[in-house]
Amino acid sequence: MSEIKKIGVLTSGGDCSGLNTAIRAVACSALSKGWEVYGIENATDGLFARPMRYRQFSFKDFDFPYARLGGTMLGTNNSGNPNLQMTADGTMEELTDEQLVERFRDGAKELGLDALVVIGGDGSMAIISKFCQLAGIKMVGIPKTIDNDAPATDAAIGFATARNIVMEALDRLDTTANSHQRVMILEVMGRGAGHLALEGAIAGMADICLIPEIPYTYEGVVKKLRQLRACGRSHALMVVAEGIKTPEGKHVFATNGRTFTGVANYFTERLSAEPDKFNVRTTILGHVQRGGTPMAQDRILASTFAVHAVDLLEQGITDRVVVCRNGKVSDMSLQEVLKIAHTPVDPKGQAVQTARGLGMYIGE
Ligand code: F6P
Repeated sequence: MSEIKKIGVLTSGGDCSGLNTAIRAVACSALSKGWEVYGIENATDGLFARPMRYRQFSFKDFDFPYARLGGTMLGTNNSGNPNLQMTADGTMEELTDEQLVERFRDGAKELGLDALVVIGGDGSMAIISKFCQLAGIKMVGIPKTIDNDAPATDAAIGFATARNIVMEALDRLDTTANSHQRVMILEVMGRGAGHLALEGAIAGMADICLIPEIPYTYEGVVKKLRQLRACGRSHALMVVAEGIKTPEGKHVFATNGRTFTGVANYFTERLSAEPDKFNVRTTILGHVQRGGTPMAQDRILASTFAVHAVDLLEQGITDRVVVCRNGKVSDMSLQEVLKIAHTPVDPKGQAVQTARGLGMYIGE
């Protein structure tokens, strides 16, 4: 058994539904053991800032409905530049890597933290684990991402709710597509992995789905649309993951030059110009996929992950990441998980087979 008395918890990377459930579950589980729990604000920024930004949790903090909502009550950060920090008077200061480690170590020491629970994606975990290592702080990771490509786990917090949002969007698009005999193209998130697009497309009964993991041809898309027409179907639903390349092999970037968005517009423009006179419209779902109340599935996953993480700390087991494999929650070495990078869609896996079995065009 460990000597743990005080822990910190933070959320890092892009937000998603279920983060507040996870924060609450970490806090309630640790408070039940008689520990002190500190919520660090805006990912690691709360420890880098002076004065530090954090709050000490009590059970009372979770009386409010906030714990049931999307987003993160602690705030988060996915800018990837921790060196730029806000000072007490609101101005920005540039810190060196050494200064960051020093502040991280001093901050954790000042709060008396025995360990840190990091709720984040693989990118955040890689960065924060380095700080923890350099500062001598124990860590346990809990995976979250709507992309569901976190290494070594079949499920990550936020995916189930985001997938439902994609399905609901397709349900809504289907009725208007049907009314107007249109091809509706829905662009969903998924920078490097198509889990959200593919599973959303299966649940939302789409006709075409393009994901980064499977090569496709523009001709294949047109052929599918023509087949649907030939069968008497006057409308179609097409899902594209934001991370696919155009048939010319180019990514379509957002104006920030960092994230992808807009590849659906490419298809709308090109398909509209076909002699078939396809009547095409685009919907880019964007950050809608990251908001909203978490579904029961995400609340249960977040709660199970959090309780497991706190139990690990109680047993003195650290530098682990909580994972879910074949429906069972367990944990893996942090270093091993970081070596795996991310988990894309398996082109020979069950979801792809199901989509093909349904007659969906998902590439060659
Ligand atoms: O990694 C999750 C994710 O939602 C991606 O699917 C998407 O490309 C990215 O975050 C968008 O991030 P941002 O919050 O910077 O717009």
